[in-house]
Amino acid sequence: MRIAIIGSTGQLGTDLVKTLGTAHEVISLTHSDLEVADYDSLVILKEQRPDVVINTAAFHKTDQCEEEPKKTFCVNALGARNIAMMTKEIGATAVYISSDYVFDGSKKEPYTEESIPAPINTYGISKLAAEHFTRQNPKHYIIRIASVFGKAGASGKGGNFVETMINKAKKNEPIMVVDDMWMSPTYTKDAASVLKGILELQLPYGVYHATNKGYCSWYQFAKEIFQITRLNPDLKPTKTDPNYGKAKRPAFSALTSTKLSKYNLEPRGWKEALRAYLIEKGHI
Ligand SMILES: NC(=O)c1ccc[n+]([C@@H]2O[C@H](COP(=O)([O-])OP(=O)(O)OC[C@H]3O[C@@H](n4cnc5c(N)ncnc54)[C@H](OP(=O)(O)O)[C@@H]3O)[C@@H](O)[C@H]2O)c1
Repeated sequence: MRIAIIGSTGQLGTDLVKTLGTAHEVISLTHSDLEVADYDSLVILKEQRPDVVINTAAFHKTDQCEEEPKKTFCVNALGARNIAMMTKEIGATAVYISSDYVFDGSKKEPYTEESIPAPINTYGISKLAAEHFTRQNPKHYIIRIASVFGKAGASGKGGNFVETMINKAKKNEPIMVVDDMWMSPTYTKDAASVLKGILELQLPYGVYHATNKGYCSWYQFAKEIFQITRLNPDLKPTKTDPNYGKAKRPAFSALTSTKLSKYNLEPRGWKEALRAYLIEKGHI
């Protein structure tokens, strides 16, 4: 397959390029190659004629999204609409990377692909709008991930929650992490493998959840990071401050897949994935 990856220098994009590049022809597209919110700049897709276009581009700074709804909707929702229209025109499959934040977090058990989204912040609303726009191309996959960690780090600049925790521990800073907010972490290398499998096996079009298996609170996630790395900072659990940040966040946004196990594509558990990431980064 010829696979175009938009946001190829980002955290997920970097692993998609590596993973898909082992078996397919990859067209890496950075922000300077195209702007998803500008339909005219997508002409590069017409020229390159990929079979599949994976859109990882997003404005995902959740609190900033509340302050900049126009930018949020332009990049996330309008961007997805543009990709859906262009891929339909050139006969390609559209893959949209979405988020656990399309859910409101009121459920007491993990959300499946069949759960009804009900976002509670601007970012989540824009991602849900993007999912709807993506469906304008019948040949589409919507891949939901959450709480991402990958070697490249956010925007390819090395940062993510795991690195933040390790840096704080190394500086002997006291660390407080919420233990009342639950999620399913996603190692980008594993999400990239799931997507490779979905494309190669030509799974039915639609929504897939591609987080690592299981879920944890952010405190439990931090605790596991320090257990594996044998760092021993002053880590304490805390409760969510209702005044923290501009955006409301879902309290429980764990995801699970009812589809992937049928195809042997279910990702490993988050603890195992975290260990693999820490090895890849040279922390252990
Ligand atoms: N990070 C998370 O915890 C998380 C959780 C759930 C879902 N997701 C979703 O997963 C996807 C990938 O996330 P990520 O962590 O890999 O993000 P990332 O590291 O920020 O990568 C995004 C990439 O897209 C590019 N980009 C941004 N805006 C663009 C635009 N308007 N036009 C074209 N390219 C643009 C960025 O380039 P520049 O940096 O040069 O602008 C960057 O290379 C996103 O859709 C995000 O919403 C992420």
